[in-house]
Amino acid sequence: MNNKVIAIDGPAGAGKSTVARRLSERISYTYIDSGALFRAVTLKVLKCGIEADDVKNILYYAKNSSLDFINNSIYLDGEDVSSEIREAFVSSKVSYIAMIPEIREIIVSIQRKIAKNKNVVVDGRDIGTTVFPRAYIKFFLTASVEERAKRRYNELCDKNKYTLEEVKNQIIERDYIDAHREASPLRQAEDAILIDTTGKNIDEVIAEMLYHISIKGDV
Ligand code: CDP
Repeated sequence: MNNKVIAIDGPAGAGKSTVARRLSERISYTYIDSGALFRAVTLKVLKCGIEADDVKNILYYAKNSSLDFINNSIYLDGEDVSSEIREAFVSSKVSYIAMIPEIREIIVSIQRKIAKNKNVVVDGRDIGTTVFPRAYIKFFLTASVEERAKRRYNELCDKNKYTLEEVKNQIIERDYIDAHREASPLRQAEDAILIDTTGKNIDEVIAEMLYHISIKGDV
């Protein structure tokens, strides 16, 4: 089977996961949320009381975890952790865990395994550059940091614990770490289509993507 990959990369809060999920439903592809995998490993590490720089133990716990997507929900060791992984205590540490090359290898192989016999929409930071460099079509989503912070603030369930300014600073820090790490940093692939989502709603962004996909041919 000649299966297809649609890669969507970009910084935090650019709208990737909502857009990727909806796009996958529209075209009946399987959605892979690579950030959820990094977040779930981070949640496990934090729950086990491991410090974000204790690489040896992080790897031990990552290798001894089960990570699964069932109906677009992420399961860590058999438990649905889809909401918990979005909380700010995970967001503030995830980029440190995602810097570790061996962790990236584990997550990359999970993604490639899922995509083996399926058409997939995958969102993340390194999808078009490293995980699926030969993806059928690649998008890079951005938005102004103010808009990205506002979106993230509005969706946080523990909103009252953080101000908009704190959420913005956390996003700036995460973007910096993601873009400057050595192992597959966040960057736009040369052949990716750039979409600035500032001031655009989800439907407008999806319409733009579907337009580019239709130019390429059938999905
Ligand atoms: O939803 P948001 O854009 O805030 O983040 P996410 O996609 O859930 O990813 C959380 C973090 O995981 C990112 O800030 C990166 O540090 C890491 N990540 C990564 O390194 N590579 C990916 N393909 C996806 C996420």
